[in-house]
Amino acid sequence: MSEEIIIVEGNGTLQGDVQVSGAKNSALKLMPAALLGRGRSVIHNVPHISDIFVMEEVMRRLGADVRRDGHDGRTLIVDTAQVDKFETPYELVSKMRASISVLGPLIGRFGEARVAMPGGCQIGARPIDMHLIGLEALGVHFEMKHGFLHATTPEGLHGADIVLDFPSVGATENMLMAACTAKGRTIIENAAREPEIVDLANMLNAMGAQVKGAGTSIIEVEGVPSDQLHPCEHTTVGDRIEAGTFLVGGALTGGPVTVHGIDPSYLRMALMKLSAMGCDIERGEDWIRVERTRPLAPADIQTLPHPGFPTDLQAQFMLLAALADGTSVITENVFENRFMFASELARMGADIAIEDHHALVEGVESLQGADVSSTDLRAGAALVLAGMVADGQTRVHNIGHIDRGYEDYVGKLRGLGACVERCSVDEG
Ligand code: EPZ
Repeated sequence: MSEEIIIVEGNGTLQGDVQVSGAKNSALKLMPAALLGRGRSVIHNVPHISDIFVMEEVMRRLGADVRRDGHDGRTLIVDTAQVDKFETPYELVSKMRASISVLGPLIGRFGEARVAMPGGCQIGARPIDMHLIGLEALGVHFEMKHGFLHATTPEGLHGADIVLDFPSVGATENMLMAACTAKGRTIIENAAREPEIVDLANMLNAMGAQVKGAGTSIIEVEGVPSDQLHPCEHTTVGDRIEAGTFLVGGALTGGPVTVHGIDPSYLRMALMKLSAMGCDIERGEDWIRVERTRPLAPADIQTLPHPGFPTDLQAQFMLLAALADGTSVITENVFENRFMFASELARMGADIAIEDHHALVEGVESLQGADVSSTDLRAGAALVLAGMVADGQTRVHNIGHIDRGYEDYVGKLRGLGACVERCSVDEG
């Protein structure tokens, strides 16, 4: 049985310009949002990644016609006129938990939905209690049977004033999409403030919804009748986590690396940390350049909901800290089990001690190439970066994780001078 892996030679080079793709964590919600407008919506700048292909399949199972268009195939035409089902099968939800994002729009359009309960994943149990509590406040009744969640709205959807325990991205998005057709006003307090929430709200408003305050912790929605929502054309924002990953690569090797197609305001905290660790940062309207001519300095990092430090860049910054001159403390406050990357990096010679949700990282002189395994898509991307500056060869396994969220990761790294390739090897 053969396995595809990524082989990296530690040539310590990463410099040049790279175009980031559309944001995975936005496009995966923009697609189901199109369910709210009966007809043909057009979504541009959709990345070629496996999570998107799964969401395309989810939409087709619901009866939508989904096809790629545009000279580069990054435009999706989603025609939801014929959507007549509201059930999402287990095998798709188990493949990708983000499928739960169909819950809100299906309820907003049909007043009903049947979605397989998502399982956990490597980084945590990933419960959806806040999604359910928020939707129940809007008048949704849930019944859990045979692993499926059956949502109904016997008295219809009505506005509510909801306060989230935690600014959950997914819960905010599901409530936002259902609230668009709820009777009356909905206020979501302690809402998530990620840039992808703003992107979703902009698309919903282009469809005729009335959403205000997205990007702040208080979002207001004036519900409109479901048949007043219409299809639209929308362009996905750039992927801030992909951009941050390449910027860390530039910080690691010295760069300079310039990422294009990203609003620098999405990465304010990460850029502050890169500067504190010894990098020079330049930014323009839709590009960011990083270079490092000084030794890497240690940093203390706390992952938090946006605008705090993004948990999706935690592994990449742990790699920087592993080679810094001194001791860094990294605290993971968002997920309960997102330090598996540390044990893989330790196999390459990193010195990291985990205490509950803190990681104490003692910088070392260098890392050694080794066989390592991706535990989630961000850890996998960071392991490839580690291989670029390690002595010798690194072989990264389980690269399916990387393909879920990074379009042509190897191709983009090669374009920046990295000595990296994908190849099939016999397993075992
Ligand atoms: C989104 O996940 C992203 N995924 C994640 O990106 C990202 O890490 C996360 O937001 C935080 O920014 C997508 O957008 C597809 P949450 P989501 O709801 O919506 C707990 C990547 O690498 N929680 O904000 O699932 C939850 O367990 C991925 O691209 C509840 O307890 O994140 C977690 O500990 C990884 N109950 C925390 O809140 C709930 O009902 C944050 O979760 C919901 C969440």
